[in-house]
Amino acid sequence: MGKIIVFANQKGGVGKTTTAVNLGAYIADAGKKTLLVDFDPQGNLSSSLGLDKKKPGIYEVLSGKAEIEDVIQKTPVENLSAVAANINLTGANIELVDQEDKEYYLKKIIEKIKNNYDYIFIDSPPSLGILTLNGLVAADHVIIPLQCEYFALEGLTLLVQTIAGIQRELNKKLSIGGIVFTMYDTRTNLANEVVKNVTGYFREKVFRTVIPRNVALSEAPSHGLPISIYRDDSTGARSYKKLSEEVINRV
Ligand SMILES: Nc1ncnc2c1ncn2[C@@H]1O[C@H](COP(=O)(O)OP(=O)(O)OP(=O)(O)O)[C@@H](O)[C@H]1O
Ligand SMILES: [Mg+2]
Repeated sequence: MGKIIVFANQKGGVGKTTTAVNLGAYIADAGKKTLLVDFDPQGNLSSSLGLDKKKPGIYEVLSGKAEIEDVIQKTPVENLSAVAANINLTGANIELVDQEDKEYYLKKIIEKIKNNYDYIFIDSPPSLGILTLNGLVAADHVIIPLQCEYFALEGLTLLVQTIAGIQRELNKKLSIGGIVFTMYDTRTNLANEVVKNVTGYFREKVFRTVIPRNVALSEAPSHGLPISIYRDDSTGARSYKKLSEEVINRV
């Protein structure tokens, strides 16, 4: 049975998509059958893997125009498939609001295919709106990418409260799979302070592997490739590979 992991943080640009893509690629490399679901109308995950965003994607499945099995696309990585999203998904924000069970749509969709995969990753948008809630309800674990800066801490408090609410009301089995520090810059004192603070509080929930700021990681998406193919020798690649080992052990 597939383990379902959602990448969430309502703060924008903290590395949710980068982590979903590159962690997914290394987990697939380790022989685990993995599916990535782009659940962000920005469609960044889809672009990062060169998916065809004009083909039916997750929005068409949500709105009953396609079946999930029919919108799964291949990626450049063996064992790694993906479901695309595009700007149409913004419509789901509005359409879902009036539906009963509006938080359970993605869960019901993933339920149908979860036995076909070892891991299913959901990339969510930078908000705590209905799309992210659907991700948190569908998932067994949430991984929180955290950029090492001051405002990250304020955002984290709200996110953890939201997760606790979901655990109480909508998805009892949801657990925090871990917090991963991204875009870490060893030269700044603030980054070290943030890591120290968050680790002091969340302890073993924090992944040992810290993802450094690395140019290759920011270039790879424009080639439609994960870092494992684009620059396997980069520091970014090495750290995501290490993180994939931690995630496989932990989840
Ligand atoms: N470790 C890193 N080193 C350098 N650049 C990075 C790193 N991680 C991510 N980036 C770049 O930072 C930007 C934001 O990353 P990403 O898109 O993964 O964040 P996000 O949380 O998914 O954003 P959004 O909230 O908009 O969905 C991207 O341009 C990405 O290429
Ligand atoms: Mg993103």
